[in-house]
Amino acid sequence: MPDDSDQWWKEGVLYQIYPRSFADSDGDGVGDLRGVIDRLDHLAWLGVDGIWLNPLTTSPDADWGYDVSDYTAVQPVLGTLADVDELIAAAGERKIKVLLDLVPNHTSIEHPWFVESRSSRANPKRDWYVWADPKPDGSPPNNWQSSFGGSTWTLDEATGQYYLHNFLAEQPDLNWWNEEVRDEFDRILRFWFDRGVAGFRIDVVHMVVKDALLRDNPPATDDDHWMVQLTGQRQVYNGNRPEVHDVIRRWRAVADSYDPPRILVGETHVFDTDAMLSFYGAGDELNLAFNFLLLHARFEADALRKIVETTLAAIPGDSWPVWTGGNHDMYRFPSRWADGDPAKTRCALMMLLTLPGSVFLYYGDELGMPDTEVAKDRLEDPVGKRLYPVYGRDPERTPMPWSPGPGGGFTAPGVEPWLPLGNIAACNVQDQRRDPDSVLSLCRDLIALRAAVPDLRAGRYTLQAADGGVWAWRRGDRIVVALNVGDAPAGVEVGHGMVRISTRRDRDGERVAGSLKLEPGEGAIVWLDEPPS
Ligand code: NOJ
Repeated sequence: MPDDSDQWWKEGVLYQIYPRSFADSDGDGVGDLRGVIDRLDHLAWLGVDGIWLNPLTTSPDADWGYDVSDYTAVQPVLGTLADVDELIAAAGERKIKVLLDLVPNHTSIEHPWFVESRSSRANPKRDWYVWADPKPDGSPPNNWQSSFGGSTWTLDEATGQYYLHNFLAEQPDLNWWNEEVRDEFDRILRFWFDRGVAGFRIDVVHMVVKDALLRDNPPATDDDHWMVQLTGQRQVYNGNRPEVHDVIRRWRAVADSYDPPRILVGETHVFDTDAMLSFYGAGDELNLAFNFLLLHARFEADALRKIVETTLAAIPGDSWPVWTGGNHDMYRFPSRWADGDPAKTRCALMMLLTLPGSVFLYYGDELGMPDTEVAKDRLEDPVGKRLYPVYGRDPERTPMPWSPGPGGGFTAPGVEPWLPLGNIAACNVQDQRRDPDSVLSLCRDLIALRAAVPDLRAGRYTLQAADGGVWAWRRGDRIVVALNVGDAPAGVEVGHGMVRISTRRDRDGERVAGSLKLEPGEGAIVWLDEPPS
């Protein structure tokens, strides 16, 4: 494993846990912190270096924890502050660091700050949120559209002004031009860092600062990424303001004042490489910025390669990329990228674990867990309820399948989990642990190889010419990764060497002399006998 140095997050493997869905220790159908503690041995066995937990703080759960009502208290259904302390200590014993989720863009509508803020125009907390007068005809102050649909503005009848919410009306946006808000979040960061939290994933970090003049967003154009076109407008004024960098630098200074320094990982949900990379600053902003271009890419050799190479070519100085195949807002990659094809699922895991940069796995990725269909009457995601059956986030949030029996090892037998279990007979930890050919065994072996071979963690990336459909690259001098992402057999010239891990496993240890042929969806890591001349 990467060592205890300040740089652990660069070469390590991080793992995202959706706490409500990981492991339920008390049989109420909802995952909790004690459940995570109970399952740390699985993560240590897998070879994980750090975990990121989705929000643990108190919330009325309009958006499952992303509507915070107290930033320093733990949501009772998940556990207590003492459980967080115990989790950090127990993870630390296994050399696993703990990252939490920070939600600075907005609070819950029930947060006492907002309750005060809306109580009167003269309240000292009024300016902690973004309030604006209606237009003369009573309509919202501008044209901003919420990422969850509809206007970003809701009228507060009692005080006659609109408040801003880039997401649900239950998630009012904080006013980051206000110095007291900034000071308060410095305190929140320190509260958790002092308890031993290794860093934060920061929710919608690019959106935090809004245009001071509240100017209208321009319309999206045909040239924009399809994700931008979805809202019909470019979000250049209700977020993505240049002043957000001051805020991030301020957080980074707090994180860097700790020994070892804490890290900041941003949900930089932007669709332009330069914009994404700007969040690294001059090495004084985010440590890692999630790459949503890759997440939203088609699983095709050229599409993936271009995104990775554009990122690597443009990433500033000492900054470090990060890759992930999914999260709690995206359909799972075995469904989204691989469309249920087990070979492509394995190929995608090999890609994620061998690209230059950090990697985040989402719980269940190690099993090749696909999306779970969630019936209309079981939906829990507010967006899924609005947009059913077109889109929703419940399919990727269903419980971790630990074993094939009743309750799936997630909850007690006979208890109905908060979201339905998927096909646990086909996909569970217990069975896959026993099977050397399973996705879980492949994933663990890939992580172990990455830990053992410095070039797989930090070696330079060099593209290797290959047949269409194949994406192949060298890491350092002697490792070649070749993935046939296409739908026909294809090959790549690699020289002489040996297959260290193949996604099929029956080729592990096979000698290669010249060309390596790959079936559709097959990937291989080849150790060259000699560096190419
Ligand atoms: C991004 C989070 O990942 C998502 O789950 C949430 O709904 C929005 N931000 C709003 O907080």
